[in-house]
Amino acid sequence: MCGIVGYIGTFRDPKEVLLTGLKHLEYRGYDSAGVAWLENGKTHIEKCKGKVAQLENQIKNVSIKSTIALGHTRWATHGKPSTINAHPHQVGNITVVHNGIIENYIELKKELRAQGYTFQSETDTEVIACLIKKESEKSKTLEESVQKALRKLQGSYAIVVMNELEPEKLVAAKKASPLVIGIGKKEYFLASDIPALLSFTKQVAYLDDYETAILTPHRVEFQNMKGEHISKKITTITWSAQTIEKAGFEHFMLKEIYEQPQAIIHTLSGNLSENHDKVLLPLEEAFFNNVQTIYLIACGTAWHASLIGKYLLEKFANIRAEIDLASEFRYRNPILKENDLLIVTSQSGETADSLAALQLAKERGIKTLAICNAKESSIARAADQIIYTEAGPEIGVASTKAFTTQILIFNLLSLYLAQKNKNVSKEILELTKIPSYMEQVLSQAEKIKNIASKYYQKLAALYMGRDILYPIALEGALKLKEIAYIQAHGYPAGEMKHGPIALVDQELPVIALLQNDSIFEKMMSNVEEVKAREGIVIAISQKPIKIADDNIILPLAQWHINPFLYSIPIQLFAYYMARFKGTDVDQPRNLAKSVTVE
Ligand code: F6R
Repeated sequence: MCGIVGYIGTFRDPKEVLLTGLKHLEYRGYDSAGVAWLENGKTHIEKCKGKVAQLENQIKNVSIKSTIALGHTRWATHGKPSTINAHPHQVGNITVVHNGIIENYIELKKELRAQGYTFQSETDTEVIACLIKKESEKSKTLEESVQKALRKLQGSYAIVVMNELEPEKLVAAKKASPLVIGIGKKEYFLASDIPALLSFTKQVAYLDDYETAILTPHRVEFQNMKGEHISKKITTITWSAQTIEKAGFEHFMLKEIYEQPQAIIHTLSGNLSENHDKVLLPLEEAFFNNVQTIYLIACGTAWHASLIGKYLLEKFANIRAEIDLASEFRYRNPILKENDLLIVTSQSGETADSLAALQLAKERGIKTLAICNAKESSIARAADQIIYTEAGPEIGVASTKAFTTQILIFNLLSLYLAQKNKNVSKEILELTKIPSYMEQVLSQAEKIKNIASKYYQKLAALYMGRDILYPIALEGALKLKEIAYIQAHGYPAGEMKHGPIALVDQELPVIALLQNDSIFEKMMSNVEEVKAREGIVIAISQKPIKIADDNIILPLAQWHINPFLYSIPIQLFAYYMARFKGTDVDQPRNLAKSVTVE
């Protein structure tokens, strides 16, 4: 969702910092972009609807002679995508960029209008600028005006503010939307996410909720909302700047699909004993003692990984696992008991609904564990215990390597719990074979591309699977919807007769996921039923399915390893369908990578 970049310092061209930073935040999803800077005590703003490249073109002949500048990519919430609604927003001497949603902006706007303020845009952000402007008339410093104004807001925000009257200062604050401070030598940076900073510094401090950062070219100070000084930990980022480049791949998504074997190796590393027969996890010894029910909570693809987690936890660890979407769980007053545990899974660690579900569990006093990819993200910091996936930065909006590493953590966790009561060393050893199995599947990319070339003009598709491959059917359908904009449904194959079979005709590709197990024959019956109605069957299986129109044959692996292998063809199929259709693979329309608002 919205992306923020800020710079204060004398060493660099602010235009370069802002454009580089904004380009590295494009993956978050946005529909307009803008920059602002102070020059000779006056605010300059350039903004436009569309991509950062359009903004870059708009300012190509503008030289920014300034030491203080802000940039923003907007993902429309209040008011359509337009130049006027794009950030930054200026009210008098105050200029603001904002990520989040102000829930009480209508009431505030009414009050401010009654006091004579006028508004240019339809956004909630302009209300923040207006409130800060109002407070600045009776406060001594910008930080004081910001802190006072923020007390009136309900909702979520990450903001950065500059003031013509204090031209050597940027003030930033946050609540429930991420903001990171980059620390250089006599220069400071601000961003919604690490990739925007990596080209400039690896030293960062993460702002927490209800904290303010006051940046000048010489220092950064952190305060709470009462204006009291607080100290913050400085963290060194270990990613290289290269990890956020495409490295010769046409799209980030394709690069990330190919990075999966490495991501699995990194996630396994440190979590297995030397002989690869025991799982070691960074958890407190007694954390799982007496746990009765595990609630698995997430959104989107992370929810599909959690559904696989349910199968794994119940089978290996013999623990009851309930699965729920974060957006449902948080509003349905769930029955939580003393010995329950909530596991929240999130790539970004910033998803608003997942964070709210985690907070609800904490308020109800049950234990919480997070599975996250983004280090020090809000979810990672809020949970009692954290296990990180080591997928590295995932830039493509469609989640791929984060998904398979999440499945790996669920494997590790279930086997970690199982090993207390039984010998699961064989199953543990199998985990080390995943990267080489994945390589074998990746080598079939050309074949999958050819299959996609036959079907990319179809208007709909159906995915079906059973047991641990049912979540993969859901994930396949989600991938196809989000990047190729094709109507797609994922179904447990046993449900076909209860409705979806009515969709089958000679125009409908049905992607059937079959594994060589005790219910292979049941899946085969489902395939027969589709063929009997002239549907097109693309079989992803471990042996040839003669009646299928197309076959993708995967290596034979154990049950708990299969989700890793079946993930790759469904990802590549969606990728190539989108490529043939010509849709925007890395930044699909209307989608955002980090869903920081509900
Ligand atoms: C789909 C996708 C989304 C995310 C969902 C949760 O490809 O990426 O469905 O999985 O928005 O995001 P995180 O994992 O960041 O909480």
